[in-house]
Amino acid sequence: MTTVRVLSIETSCDETSAAVVERTGDTFALRSLVILSQDVHRIFGGVVPEIASRQHLTALPPVVREALRDASCDVQDCDAIAVTHAPGLVGALLVGVHFAKALGLARSVPVVPVHHLEGHLFATALEHPLATPPFTALLVSGGHTLLLDVEDWGVYRLLGQTRDDAAGEAFDKVAKLLGLPYPGGRPLELLAREGDPSRHVFSRPMLRRNQQPEDADYFDLSFSGLKTAVMLAVRAAEAAGTIDAERAHIARGFQDAVVDTLVAKTARAARLFNRDRVVLGGGVACNVALQHAMQRALRSPGQVVYAPSPRLATDNAAMIAAAGAFRFSAGEIGDPAFSAHASMVIPGMLQPSR
Ligand code: KG4
Ligand code: ZN
Repeated sequence: MTTVRVLSIETSCDETSAAVVERTGDTFALRSLVILSQDVHRIFGGVVPEIASRQHLTALPPVVREALRDASCDVQDCDAIAVTHAPGLVGALLVGVHFAKALGLARSVPVVPVHHLEGHLFATALEHPLATPPFTALLVSGGHTLLLDVEDWGVYRLLGQTRDDAAGEAFDKVAKLLGLPYPGGRPLELLAREGDPSRHVFSRPMLRRNQQPEDADYFDLSFSGLKTAVMLAVRAAEAAGTIDAERAHIARGFQDAVVDTLVAKTARAARLFNRDRVVLGGGVACNVALQHAMQRALRSPGQVVYAPSPRLATDNAAMIAAAGAFRFSAGEIGDPAFSAHASMVIPGMLQPSR
């Protein structure tokens, strides 16, 4: 079996990352991974696109150099350079795309454009050799919330997605309401551990009783109504002067509602497609309450829930290398004119058939 070695670059949002990964069949070996998180955005309480682009510009060359040094190889020793070209902040993506193209041209190494979300689907396979298709996938990040059936690498069926905020975005906004720092997912999870689950029971979004697979909202998600309910609870506690005592309880109520909904919809998808593997991805997949609830709900004999470690769940270049190695092995090389796109459907995605 031949081994493909890929150097990869990820600059779609606020992480400047590079990695070297080798793929042999369905086995991946992580040779190096460097992730530089742009902390500057914390000051603004969200990612500022223009600042993100500029920071990628200065950080990318040393990040790539370090990834190559850690893997003890040079660009010429790689079979391909994989780069995220969509979706994301277009200015940020452009930095990675042009850097990869220039490097590829200078060193005669082919460049493979990779879809960021396909990268998230590959992340878990870097650590768990059995997290391979077919599986049900839940991608929950700051920018995306997707429920997919993955029949094979490159064959994806979109089952549901958020109709408004992404799951991570909802965590970040609710965290802000509760006075927590950005990004708020992790601090909110820690606060929720001290909360009483019976104090604020918010209704579970898009989770009606007796829903059927043919219903338009059977797999879809929505978090804006829940966010408003939380805001009203915060305002009421502020007016009553009890907000300090209520914060943890509200955080717990919010997290329980999100987790219940995500778990119920994922379990429906696994059941409908008869999948015994469930793969989580994206920053929200770091949430331990979500991981545990998913494992509790999906424990028929043979069923396994795979979640990547936090380093591979959040944005990183290793997952881009893994997806790039798959695309390169399938004979895909970027057209010299390929560019960055703010939004794009995952290649190989079948739209809902409902
Ligand atoms: O995948 P990611 O690094 O970036 C995007 O592609 O968006 O995800 C970042 C998101 C943020 O919204 C962050 O608050 C959330 O993931 N997050 C969490 C946790 N850790 C990170 N949300 C809930 N619980 C966590 N433990
Ligand atoms: Zn991401």
